[in-house]
Amino acid sequence: MFSSKKFNRQLCCLFFSLVIPFTSFSQKGDKAKVVSELIARMTLEEKVGQMTNLTLSAITEPSDDPLKVDPAKLREVIVKHNIGSIQNVVKHAYSIEEWHKLINEIQKVSLTETRLKIPFLYCIDAVHGTNFTLNSTLFPHNLGLAATRNPELVKLCAEITAKEVRASGIRYNFSPVLDVGRQPLWPRFPETFGEDVLLTKTMGVASVKGYEGKSLNDFTSVASCMKHFVGYSVPANGKDRAAAYIPEINLREYFLPPFKAAVDAGAHTLMVNSGEVNGTPVHASRFLLTDVLRNELNYKGIVISDWEDIKKLTERHKVAENHKEAVYLSVNAGIDMCIVPFDFSFYNDLIALVKEGRIKEERINESVKRILDLKFDLGIFERPYVEKEAVKNFGLPEYTQAALAAARESITLLKNSDQVLPLKRDKRVLVVGSNANSLTALNGAWSYTWQGRKAEYFPKTELTILDALKKKAGDINIVYKKDFKDVTSAEAKPDYIIVALGEDAYAETPGNTKTLELASEDIEGVRNIVKLYPGIPLIYVLTEGRPRLIREIEPFAKGVLMAYWPGSQGGNAVADILYGDYNPSGKLPFTYPRYSGELMTYDHKWLDEAVEIVEPEYKYLYEFEPQYPFGFGMSYTNFTLSNLKLSSDQLTGDSKIKVSVDIKNTGQRVGKETVELYSRDHFASVTPSVKRLRGFKKVELQPGELKTVEFEISREDLAFVGTDMKWRTEPGGFDLIVGDLNVVLNYKGQ
Ligand code: BGC
Repeated sequence: MFSSKKFNRQLCCLFFSLVIPFTSFSQKGDKAKVVSELIARMTLEEKVGQMTNLTLSAITEPSDDPLKVDPAKLREVIVKHNIGSIQNVVKHAYSIEEWHKLINEIQKVSLTETRLKIPFLYCIDAVHGTNFTLNSTLFPHNLGLAATRNPELVKLCAEITAKEVRASGIRYNFSPVLDVGRQPLWPRFPETFGEDVLLTKTMGVASVKGYEGKSLNDFTSVASCMKHFVGYSVPANGKDRAAAYIPEINLREYFLPPFKAAVDAGAHTLMVNSGEVNGTPVHASRFLLTDVLRNELNYKGIVISDWEDIKKLTERHKVAENHKEAVYLSVNAGIDMCIVPFDFSFYNDLIALVKEGRIKEERINESVKRILDLKFDLGIFERPYVEKEAVKNFGLPEYTQAALAAARESITLLKNSDQVLPLKRDKRVLVVGSNANSLTALNGAWSYTWQGRKAEYFPKTELTILDALKKKAGDINIVYKKDFKDVTSAEAKPDYIIVALGEDAYAETPGNTKTLELASEDIEGVRNIVKLYPGIPLIYVLTEGRPRLIREIEPFAKGVLMAYWPGSQGGNAVADILYGDYNPSGKLPFTYPRYSGELMTYDHKWLDEAVEIVEPEYKYLYEFEPQYPFGFGMSYTNFTLSNLKLSSDQLTGDSKIKVSVDIKNTGQRVGKETVELYSRDHFASVTPSVKRLRGFKKVELQPGELKTVEFEISREDLAFVGTDMKWRTEPGGFDLIVGDLNVVLNYKGQ
C-alpha cells in the first residue's frame, strides 16, 4: 500500500511542476472588504450561481472510465450559469492525480473565463476517511468510532481525513453526521455515533475539530458539515428519508444538543434533513432553519440543502405545487445553497422569484456572503488551485497505524464464555461465511463507491478477516467455507469455528430493510454447523452497520465479537483481537436489541419497562432485557470499581461537584476500560429517564494498577427540557451511578 502511495506522490510532484504556472489569481486582503466589494459588483445571476451546487456528472462525459470533462458542459455550467460549487464523483473514487487534474481544469475556467473570476469550490463526502480518493485510508464508520469512547482518536481520524481530502485538492467535506441514532432500522445508523446524546455531542465535536483544525486556511484542514439538521435519524417506519414525528420537547432534549455543541465548536456549514418532521419537510421549515438554527443556536455559517431535496418538496412531500414554489419555500425557510444537482432549475426559478419581487435581493446577498466568506476562509481566493503543500500529506504510513488503532479500539467483545478467546494459535480453525472474505463488508457504505459494494476499487494490499487470520495463524490452520451449505462433516474436525455474520455494505435508501432479523439461511446455517460439529466452540464475528438480531443462535456461541464496519484495518484488528494480540476495549454505542418488536434505547422511561402479570396472581415488575446493553463490552482482563465518592453530596446554584471512583485492573493483562457515569433523577416534572450518560473516560491500566477517575458535575449536566421547552434542573435527589456503584447527590436549587 505504501509503495503505491509513494509512487502516487512522485507523480503528483511531476504534475505540479507542469500545472502550477497558471495559479496566478489572487484576491488577498480583509475578508469583509473583499466579500462586500465582490457582492456589490455581482449580478443577480452571478449571485444565484454561487447558491447553486451541481454534481460532477453535469460537466463530464457520462462514463468516468476514464473521467473526462466535457468542455461544452463545463462552460455551460461555470461560465454561462456562474455555478460556484461542484460535488461528488460520477460513479467511483478517483486517483489523486485525476482529482488534481479535474479540479485545476474547472478552476482554470472559473478564473479565466468568468467575468468576476470567483474561484469555484469542490465538495465531497469523506465520511470515514477520504472515501472517494483511491488508496486513501478508510477508518471505522462513526458507529464504531463511538464504541472506542476515545474522542482523541476520533479527532485524529478526522484530522487524517482532512489532510487526505485537502491533498486531493478538495476543501469542503460533508461530514460528520450528528443525527442521534435512536432507530436501528434506519440504513444510516452506521453513520451515527449511536443512540446517546452526550456520546454524539462529544464525538461530533471531536470530529468537527479534527476536520477544521486551527484554521480553514491551513493545508491540513477542510470545512466540516454538520448533518442532517434535524430529526433525520428517527423515521417512524425506520426507512431512509421518511416522516418523523418528534415532539418539540424530545427534539430539544435528544436531537438539537449535538448540533448546538458543534455550532459552538465553530463548524462552518450545515446540511438539512431530507425527511420531514411533524408534517413539515425540514427544507421548508422556517421554524427549524431560521427560528431555531439561526436565532436560538446562533449559527452563522452556510445552510446547504441535501441532494435534490428542493425538488422533492414538490415531487415527494407535496407541499409545493411546482418547483418555483418549492424554491420560494426553501429559500424563505433559510437555505443558502442548493444541491440541485443535475440542472439549472433552482438557478432559473430563484432568479425569476427575485425578479418578480417575491424574494428580496438582500436575502440573496445574505446567502452569497456566507458562501464567499467560506471560500475566503478556505484560502481559495488566495490559492485557488490544488495546493502543493497539501498534496504531500496524502498516504503517510502513520495513517494506517491510526486506522488500525481505531478499528482495534472500536471492536467490542460481547461474549466470552469459558474464556474461549483469545484463540490458541496452533489450533485448527474453520471459518464460515462470505463476510469473512469481503472487503466491502469490512468497509461498508461510502467506500470508493457510494454503496461500497465494488471490491475492485479497494487497495490490493488490504486484508479481509480471512487473509488476516491466515497471516497470523498460518494457512494450514485456517480452513474457509464461504457458504454455510458447503460445510459438511467431511471436514477434519476443527478446534474452533468462526462464523462471520452481519451485513454487506449499503448506503442510504438502498439500505432500507424490512427487518433486523438475520437472513434465515444464516440462522439455519449456524444450526446445521452446531449439528455437524457438536461441542466445537463457536465464535461469531459481526460485521454490520446496524444490529442484526442473533437471539435464536446466540446461545450456541461461546464468543461474540462486534466489529461494526471497521474500515481498512478491520481484518487485522479482528485477527489481533481473536488471537489476543490486542485486548479489546470497545463499548456498545447503542442498545443491541433482542427482539425487533422491542427497540428501546437505554435511556427510556420507567413506564416503557412496566410489565403486568395476571396469573397466578396479579403483580407488576420492570423488565428490560436487550441482547446486550448500551455501554457493554468485555476485556481479556478484569476491572474492579470501588470508592465512588462526591466532593459534596449537596449541589447549589452554579457550583460544581467532583465525582471520583477508583478502578483497578485485577486481571493478568494490560487493558483499557471506559468508566461511564450515569445519573438518575429521582423525581421530576417531566418523567425522567431510567438513567442518562453524564460522562465517560477511558483509561489504560497495567495488571494490578489502580487509577482514580474524576468527573465534574454541574446543574447543567443534570438538566432536562421542561414543558415550557426550556432547559431546567429541578431541586431534589439524583443517583450518580458508575457500574454497580451508586451515590446520591442532592441538588438544592439556585
Ligand atoms: C446524502 C448526504 C450527502 C449528499 C451528498 C445525500 O444523498 O443524504 O449525506 O452528503 O448526498 O451530496
